[in-house]
Order: sequence, then C-alpha cells, then structure tokens
Amino acid sequence: MPHVPSPITSETGDSVDPFSHPSLITPSLEHAIAEAKHLVVLTGAGVSAESGVPTFRSSGGLWAQYDPTQLATREAFSRDPDLVWHWYSWRRGIIRGVQPNPGHFALVEAETLFPRFSLITQNVDNLHRRAGSSDVHELHGNIERSRCLDCARAYPGDEAPPSENALRCECGGLIRPGVVWFGESLPESELIFAQEAARTCDLFLSVGTSGLVYPAAALPLIAHQNGAYVVEINPELSAIARQMDECIAAPSGVALPMIIETTKRLRTTA
Ligand code: OAD
Repeated sequence: MPHVPSPITSETGDSVDPFSHPSLITPSLEHAIAEAKHLVVLTGAGVSAESGVPTFRSSGGLWAQYDPTQLATREAFSRDPDLVWHWYSWRRGIIRGVQPNPGHFALVEAETLFPRFSLITQNVDNLHRRAGSSDVHELHGNIERSRCLDCARAYPGDEAPPSENALRCECGGLIRPGVVWFGESLPESELIFAQEAARTCDLFLSVGTSGLVYPAAALPLIAHQNGAYVVEINPELSAIARQMDECIAAPSGVALPMIIETTKRLRTTA
C-alpha cells in the first residue's frame, strides 16, 4: 500500500491557505523533489474543482447527472447535434465564468524549477493555459476549440458555433466540439508525448483524477515501472492509488503550492 497521510478536508477548497496546514511533504517526497531531473504532472478534473468546474464522477459530478452516451459520443452528436452543442455551450459558459486556482498557478511555477517539466492534462477547460502554463499536453482536447466532423478543419474559440445550434463547415460537415468523446482515439502526438514523458521522468504526480479512464490512467503505472517516484494528490484514494509510492490526501490547491514551496527551498539552498 502507498503511504497515506491523514486527509485535509475541504469541500470547496477555494479559501484554503496551503500554509495553514502541517506539511504534507514526506522525507521520501522531499528526496524525490531534490533529485528530480524530469517532473511529469498528469491532471484531471479535480484540479479544476476548486475553481468551480464540476468533476465527472464525484457525487453530484457531471456523469452522475447526465448520461455520457447521450452527450459525449459521436453517435449522440450525429443523432442530435443541437442537444450536444447545448450541453457543451453550457459547460463553456461555466468554464469562462471561473478563474484558475492555486493548483494551476503552482504548475506554472514548476516550469522554471526542474530541468525538464511535462504537463499532461485530461481537462478540456483550458485553465492551465489561462493560468500561464506555456506547454500543455491535452489528451482529451479543448472545449474552446471546434472542428468539422467530416474534414477536421479547425474552428478556434468563439468562431463556431456562437449559439447552441450546430453549424456546418464549408465542406458541408457538422462542426463539433474539439474534445475527445467516448469510443474515440486520443490525439496521437499528445499520447505519444505523454507515454514517452511517463517512461523517462523520475518524479510523477497524478493529480485530481479518478484513474478510471484509459489510456491516461496507465501513465502513472508506466512511470512507476520505469523507476519514477509516483505520487497521487487527491482528497480520496483513486482507482490507481495502489500503483503510487505515496498518496497525498489533500486538495490540489493545497498540496501543489506546498510542493512548489518545498522545491524552491531545496533547489535554492542546495
Ligand atoms: P473524475 O471526475 O473521474 O475524477 C475527479 C477526481 O478528482 C476524483 O477522484 C476526486 O476525488 C478528485 N478531486 C476532487 N476535488 C479535488 C481537489 N480539490 N483536488 C484534487 N483532487 C480532487 O475526473 P477525471 O479523472 O479527470 O473525459 O476523468 C477523466 C475523464 O473522464 C475526463 O477527462 C472526461 C471524463 O469522461 C473526457 O471528457 C473525454
């Protein structure tokens, strides 16, 4: 079993001061931080929960309220594109109305603290970029982008569709949200990047993900099998917690800033 410290409970997390908590950094993690030449961070919906973006599988999460087969598959879109667009426009509206949180900002700082840093996300909400992360590898696409269902022509941002109704590309195909749906392949270049990063890193953080959706959920295992120190950050144990060297039972908006402060202390005094 991984090392599991006592949880810090925070329902919303947004008013939590990371430095009001006792340190979550174990001596083993401190050692891994001090030695790391390549840090990989895999994020999931939990990282954006403290911003106010609903997760998928927590109680009250999106998949507890909505049927993904009716909203997040190619068949659903072909059957009722307006319904699917209505749902994605609603989610876009939520995302545009929120701000990145301390967890996102901590990962911006990580870029300058390690010789190599790779940020891989399952999130489609664009909050890592809005926080200032410069190199984000999106495994499940981006809700701010759209593309043609038939010819794959890209339609950025607001260009399509401005309303809740599906629009057509100039080729005649339907314009769809630029996200990965159930049953679809992940973008090949991003998946290859993520798997190579997991194989070659020496410290891997799996943050705010239930670990139920593959191939993303295999990345911590790849890292572990290749010798990296693998840490989960999640108030609850995920489905892949047993693959971790340790689990930090805390919100990412608390744990990630703490890891960054520890990194700065270790790397500036080393
Ligand atoms: P889930 O909703 O499955 O899991 C969110 C995880 O975040 C849960 O394990 C929570 O315990 C945890 N969590 C909640 N608040 C947190 C906080 N403040 N800090 C850290 N962790 C917290 O979301 P994902 O694992 O990201 O796919 O789901 C994976 C994919 O399933 C999504 O990308 C999406 C969905 O279907 C697509 O849209 C293609």
